[in-house]
Amino acid sequence: MSYLSKIDLTKTPKHIAIIMDGNGRWAQKQGHLRLYGHNFGVESIRETLKAAKELKIEYLTLYAFSTENWNRPKEEVDGLMDLLVKSLANEIKELSDTGVRLSTIGDIEGLPQECQDELQESIELTKDNNEINLVLALNYSARWEIIDAVKKIASEVKSSNLLINDLNAEKFGLYLNTKNIPDPELLIRTSGERRISNFLLWQIAYTEFHFTEVLWPDFKREDLYKAVLDFQSRERRFGKVSEQLT
Ligand code: FPP
Repeated sequence: MSYLSKIDLTKTPKHIAIIMDGNGRWAQKQGHLRLYGHNFGVESIRETLKAAKELKIEYLTLYAFSTENWNRPKEEVDGLMDLLVKSLANEIKELSDTGVRLSTIGDIEGLPQECQDELQESIELTKDNNEINLVLALNYSARWEIIDAVKKIASEVKSSNLLINDLNAEKFGLYLNTKNIPDPELLIRTSGERRISNFLLWQIAYTEFHFTEVLWPDFKREDLYKAVLDFQSRERRFGKVSEQLT
């Protein structure tokens, strides 16, 4: 029986963020180059997106390329950029026809021009869709994002557009790349690693984590349902005690 039937569709997370990990190991286990795994990872993205739509998830954020990933061998970095451009070109019609609204977080200006152009075109084409928001984290790191926010705040204070004492957590959030996006309620990391790797550090203050041994290219719809069921088994107290929640 599918895990889907056990999910309470009225209590699914509004925003799921995923650290898609394990592509390289998946490929190497089969005697292939790491890029082979990244290619298969695109199919997992497709499946996850379909499952997320079924569950009426409003935001799906995928960690596709971190600022630290530039340190990988050039061949792998080039291959990933090429895969991004080709995948967008191949998928964009279906994404736009099925209500997906694409956006990005990260330092997009640091990506190759070809990626920037493809992204811009895809974002423009899908901007009026409202079935689900697919947020790609590209050339992203949370420390970069936070420092970028602090620089913008400092500049606003300097030009007297912002009073220091008016700054609070809610206002700070408006300077982040995720300013119009609710914090993720569930964060999934595949491949058995249990760390956050500079992803959404500000936004995960009250996020539930789900770690799975499944390598990203093997991650399919049932794995997303399983993660959501795990989320629904948690008691989210936000600093309160159990008795206050009922
Ligand atoms: C982590 O696995 C995965 C990545 C760094 C890239 C993720 C990219 C894709 C799934 C495909 C391209 C994305 C789009 C949006 C089209 P890893 O290489 O770190 O695996 P390992 O830990 O086994 O080495």
